[in-house]
Amino acid sequence: MGSWEEFYATHLPPADFEDNRQLLKQFCENHLKDQSQNIVLVTSGGTIAPLEHNTVRFVDNFSAGSRGSASAEYFLERGYAVIFMFRTKSLEPFTRHFSGQQFLDMLDIIENGENSSISVKPDSVDVLFPILQKYKQAQETNRLLYVNFTSVSDYLWLLRAACECLAPFEKRALLYLAAAVSDFYVPEEDMPKHKIQSTGAPKISLDLVPKILKPLVSSWVPQAFVISFKLETDDSLLIQKSREALIKYNHKLVIANILHTRRYRVVMVSPTTEQEIVLSKEQVHSGLEIEEPIVNEIVKRHEQFQKPDQ
Ligand code: PMT
Repeated sequence: MGSWEEFYATHLPPADFEDNRQLLKQFCENHLKDQSQNIVLVTSGGTIAPLEHNTVRFVDNFSAGSRGSASAEYFLERGYAVIFMFRTKSLEPFTRHFSGQQFLDMLDIIENGENSSISVKPDSVDVLFPILQKYKQAQETNRLLYVNFTSVSDYLWLLRAACECLAPFEKRALLYLAAAVSDFYVPEEDMPKHKIQSTGAPKISLDLVPKILKPLVSSWVPQAFVISFKLETDDSLLIQKSREALIKYNHKLVIANILHTRRYRVVMVSPTTEQEIVLSKEQVHSGLEIEEPIVNEIVKRHEQFQKPDQ
């Protein structure tokens, strides 16, 4: 595995990088002046590792973006300014509530010649109204910024740029790293330019992506409250791996989850404690999302962390 410095030296930033950097800068500058304003970077969705420069095929990391997009809404409710850094076409706050044709099915056309219009069906108003209201409020207060990535390289460039803008917030900054980030990739210099031909079984050799949490915690945002997520499929490894991550990266909290139970069970692992959050079947059926208690708990811990004696 190369170092993280080497990664940035050998991988060009994405084409829209400068535009996104300006957006991040502007957004953070707007909120920095208000000393009572907390800010969170929520990363969401999976990164891809392309196999060709002109990418037809790639290795993907599993994540629908449910965790990140739902959490972003709850952070907004708790007054945070939110940078939502997400995989293109994964779930986004607010629109995540409507999949497929669901949104179109909520609308009616009112035919009236040139004055034809569109209205929300009466039985859909109750569903749409609170979501639209919260979305508008986030827009009007300029508290939600969207930036997107596709490849692991895009992600790493954006993450570093976001950290540069978040560093001046010191303890007011929270990093909530829920994205599923590639651990393996094909380095640019080893990648074929064009689509791999199917004339024979290809030999694909993957390298390790440098773990970026290390410089992030120690140098980029050393005063921020950093939370990473840990996804496993083997329950017996979950807590041990989370503890190892805390020791290696020296951040504040790992939120550990198992692929098949992640919607109703997580364990918050800190250097000294373990706290399980579990939803009952009834709670899940009633529409409670686990991201609500997760965010509430994190906000509590972030407040505690910001107290002067901490
Ligand atoms: O979106 P959903 O479908 O709801 O799914 C949500 C989720 C299961 C993806 C989410 O809850 C979750 O667990 N996300 C993290 C999954 C993961 O990829 O973990 P990891 O073991 O690969 O990485 C652990 C941490 O290391 C991550 O916080 C990541 O930011 C960091 N990392 C990873 C790779 C890398 N090269 N550098 C890093 O710093």
